[in-house]
Amino acid sequence: LRVLFASAEAYPYAKVGGLADVSSALPKALAQRGVDVRLVIPGYRGLGGTPVRTLDVPFGQVHERVEVRRLAGLGGVEVLTLGVPDWFDRDTPYGYQDEDVLPFVLFAKAVTALAAQDTWRPHVIHCNDWHCGLIAQEARQGPHRGALERTGLVFTIHNIAYQGRVGVATDQLIGLPPAGTLLERGIAFADRVNTVSPRYMQEILTPAQGAGVDDLLRSRGRAARGILNGVDYEEFNPERDPWIVSRYDGSFVAGKRENKATLQRISGLETDPDRPLFGMVARLVSQKGVGLLSSALGQIVGRGGQVVVMGEGAQRYRRDLQAAARRFAGSVAYHPTAREALARQVYAGSDFFLAPSVFEPCGLTPLIALRYGTIPIVRHTGGLADTVRDYADDPAAGLGFVFVQRRVASLLAAVDTALAVYRRREEWQRLQRRAMAADFSWRAPAQEYVGLYAEAVRARRSAGQ
Ligand code: GLC
Repeated sequence: LRVLFASAEAYPYAKVGGLADVSSALPKALAQRGVDVRLVIPGYRGLGGTPVRTLDVPFGQVHERVEVRRLAGLGGVEVLTLGVPDWFDRDTPYGYQDEDVLPFVLFAKAVTALAAQDTWRPHVIHCNDWHCGLIAQEARQGPHRGALERTGLVFTIHNIAYQGRVGVATDQLIGLPPAGTLLERGIAFADRVNTVSPRYMQEILTPAQGAGVDDLLRSRGRAARGILNGVDYEEFNPERDPWIVSRYDGSFVAGKRENKATLQRISGLETDPDRPLFGMVARLVSQKGVGLLSSALGQIVGRGGQVVVMGEGAQRYRRDLQAAARRFAGSVAYHPTAREALARQVYAGSDFFLAPSVFEPCGLTPLIALRYGTIPIVRHTGGLADTVRDYADDPAAGLGFVFVQRRVASLLAAVDTALAVYRRREEWQRLQRRAMAADFSWRAPAQEYVGLYAEAVRARRSAGQ
């Protein structure tokens, strides 16, 4: 089975958020299952690589010469970039507000050209998020539709809040029948569509949370479903993590102590092993519930807590957090960065991990936190509702603390329950060990994707008859 996996970002080459983690971990997990996977991403500035060929891609009135390069591989996965000087001459795939679609229109055209002209003709093209939505329409209606007739298309929605809106001028450049946002084109033309958790799929099938695409999604019927993401346990492993100061495993949760002291020190917090430390790693956008957290900071500090937030994003959140860090000096810290090394220290050094999300397609960070013995406090939504069972409801199997209402009082109620358990040392360590032993690996999800690919291929076969 040959799968061409297309994404706007993939760790460690280019990363904005969880999409990057999935885009390297899933291909790796597939390769381990004998799938012949190639990963293709845009050729961002500074990625380097070895030129392998060029593709001639018609684009509006002109033809672009797209350079295909090969990067140092990724555990059995060949990694290719598609680049045009100037088009992807930037460090990150996309901004937080602006959805500059044009580079991704060209990327989609180039991906189909690559799939069609290659001697390595994929059975499936796996397209991710709006950046790759147009690939599906291109494959079915573009110049390479003949060559790709039998190629199955899978479209994965990591977030419907970002859709890649298309204006009239862009539609002309695309040169295909107008078909809505780039995300909608992915949903409409793929053979199989999925989201990154079952619960999020249920949510976005409703008008209230469907961001305008619920009708279209419903029309796909059983071709649409949810498959929970996994975590790359080779990458995220406190026994081997090269970025944390002290390595540890489930039999030595005390190994977290040194990591906590370090996190407190580098964050300018009081280095007190007994103060409960709440960490958060996120893109600072409204989705992540940063506003809610900011409003609760004073009360968390009032309960003796310390809070470390890290992440880049919207200026108003950065300002709020910077102000809070000054106001609650020694108790609240904000790091305006997405540096992976620091993120690891937050996972390892915190007692709790905060994910008060407004909505959450999957939510990988709390799952990573579990692996580091850091107990998540999450809002009951999307993938978080599928993964973090509430310890308060189910002490025998719970993994974290859950609240439902988007209100400071609800968040604080979960914090209070969490703190009570934190103070009962034996019970707390038992919970930490359970968290570290939980299995959110790619094993089962990768197998589900293999099934989805097979369905997509079968769908093409019956379409061709
Ligand atoms: C997006 C979603 C997040 C998900 C990630 C990977 O970033 O917001 O919930 O975990 O994609 O699928």
